[in-house]
Amino acid sequence: MKRVLITGANGQLGLALQGAAKNFTLDLIFMDKSVLDITNAEDIKEVFATQSFDVCINAAAYTDVDGAESNKALAFVINKTAVETLAKACKEHRCWLMHISTDYVFDGTLDRPYVPADTPNPLNVYGASKLAGEQAIESVGGTYSIVRTSWLYSQYGNNFYTKIQAQLDAGKTLRVAADQKGCPTRAEDLSAHLLTGIAEAKLEKGISHYCGSEVMTWLDLARRLFPKEEVLECGGARPLAVRPNRVVLKNNNS
Ligand SMILES: NC(=O)c1ccc[n+]([C@@H]2O[C@H](COP(=O)([O-])OP(=O)(O)OC[C@H]3O[C@@H](n4cnc5c(N)ncnc54)[C@H](OP(=O)(O)O)[C@@H]3O)[C@@H](O)[C@H]2O)c1
Repeated sequence: MKRVLITGANGQLGLALQGAAKNFTLDLIFMDKSVLDITNAEDIKEVFATQSFDVCINAAAYTDVDGAESNKALAFVINKTAVETLAKACKEHRCWLMHISTDYVFDGTLDRPYVPADTPNPLNVYGASKLAGEQAIESVGGTYSIVRTSWLYSQYGNNFYTKIQAQLDAGKTLRVAADQKGCPTRAEDLSAHLLTGIAEAKLEKGISHYCGSEVMTWLDLARRLFPKEEVLECGGARPLAVRPNRVVLKNNNS
């Protein structure tokens, strides 16, 4: 049975992978930040020296898009330097690295869906740090899959769905912005895509895109997820990080 290490196990994707685990004949080893801090090179060395893995899914990341603007160094330490260390360990131990990246590597100026070969041009620090992580993996080499996704949501962790649910639970009127368009992606679907890709050894090597098939705004998504609730459009608080108006990834599966 294939042994798969999952870093960042308590994040949204990590938890979704834990939820999907029972559907796959894989030996999944989940490590959260308290067990494996990916910024600690010695810890990475130790884990790979004492255990063997066929695959490592890196679900650990610095994901606070606005926070990255004032925490650039930390965003790069987690999203670039630590990813490079992980890539080197994977290469040395012949482990297939499966890394998750983002639509934020693009600027949104193309009026057609983005394919993996399109030129990235991140508009904010988060996107730049994730692009730097991709480039670090490419320059280390070894066996890797970089899966770019967009607008992850699920019942797990801290994301659009759980934030809206918390507002409903607090009896607040829902107000959601409609100034951005993208392809919302269920974290459960991404988890199944990754685990199927491992179980059947068919996940594309190099860079690929995986996202939901519909283009919509956050307002559209809120109305879709909570059809019985009134959701009002609002201008949205001015974000710290510049965001592209519209990024549609061309899904490798479509
Ligand atoms: N969420 C989205 O909409 C979205 C869209 C496109 C791509 N992505 C990408 O998808 C991946 C998964 O995102 P997500 O939504 O699951 O993010 P998330 O919920 O923020 O999970 C990230 C996890 O990484 C952990 N982490 C942070 N620093 C770490 C470190 N030094 N060592 C180990 N773990 C660390 C975090 O722990 P703490 O919280 O304790 O720091 C958190 O549990 C990321 O690569 C992200 O860039 C996400």
